[in-house]
Amino acid sequence: MHPSRAGRLPVEDYLDGVHRRFLGLRDGAVADYIPPLGAVDPEQFAIAVATTDGQVYGVGDVGNAFTLQSVSKPFTYGLALEDRGLAEVRARIGVEPSGDAFNSISLDAAGRPKNPMINAGAIAAAGLVEGDDPFARVLASYGRWAGRPLEVDEEVYAAERETGHRNRAIGHMLRAVGSLDGDPERALDVYFRQCSVAVTCSDLAVMAATLAARGLNPLTGEQALGDASVNQVLSVMTTCGMYDAAGEWLVGVGIPAKSGVSGAVIGVLPGQLGIAVFSPRLDPVGNSTRGVAVFRQLSKDLRLHFV
Ligand code: DON
Repeated sequence: MHPSRAGRLPVEDYLDGVHRRFLGLRDGAVADYIPPLGAVDPEQFAIAVATTDGQVYGVGDVGNAFTLQSVSKPFTYGLALEDRGLAEVRARIGVEPSGDAFNSISLDAAGRPKNPMINAGAIAAAGLVEGDDPFARVLASYGRWAGRPLEVDEEVYAAERETGHRNRAIGHMLRAVGSLDGDPERALDVYFRQCSVAVTCSDLAVMAATLAARGLNPLTGEQALGDASVNQVLSVMTTCGMYDAAGEWLVGVGIPAKSGVSGAVIGVLPGQLGIAVFSPRLDPVGNSTRGVAVFRQLSKDLRLHFV
């Protein structure tokens, strides 16, 4: 691409315009059910795009750190698929949209968590990661997605652990029905830690671009996940990635995506782009208000919708 005004690339000018357009959107509220999440600056706003050939563009607070929260779920699910194979993972975790809140204490008719994007399925997936130190493997895997080593935000992790009573209830329920083997606290600890991994909006764009490139990190050339597992991950992101707004999202945006309560949203245009938006105020469903608005605009302008 050729530099335009003031040496900027046209894509950056475009993203800058979208950023300016939604900067005034202040609807929604920052998640505060875990104290450190409630303490963040609600004005933060970043948009980053990474291509499958390794270009990364960003505007706004692209270098600010925040925690992955539920955006971690597809990546741990991917590792569980690699470790256990599709058949075992499918036997333990469904792939149907739940229609329930992300933290609902519910199972499908076969006694499995309904999908890996709600907490029950994510905790079950965390329990399927192999190794003596499963979280070390999760963290190493996230580093391959992002193209750099990542770390846990210890303050958020401590708060997740202290306030995670509902998640503990889910973990023990999963143990009772056989979705988890062994000590549920092992899976819960992986889950609390994975939610607490610190990233930037640029990292997330690269993680999404790695999904778009069928698991091959476009910056490092490292394979973060096998092709068959990428299919499975993108499919569940499509049906279940945006909480209870998955249907609205598919109609209005039309690409696989995942959001988290820290205010991050990633979207994947297979074969082409990874997109990430970070802004902490959430709509009533729990998705970043600006994040949803930006994705709708990008989808319209760039014709991202899959149909
Ligand atoms: O309480 C939890 O489980 C969260 N820390 C989960 C994070 C999240 O983004 C919720 N999403 N599905």
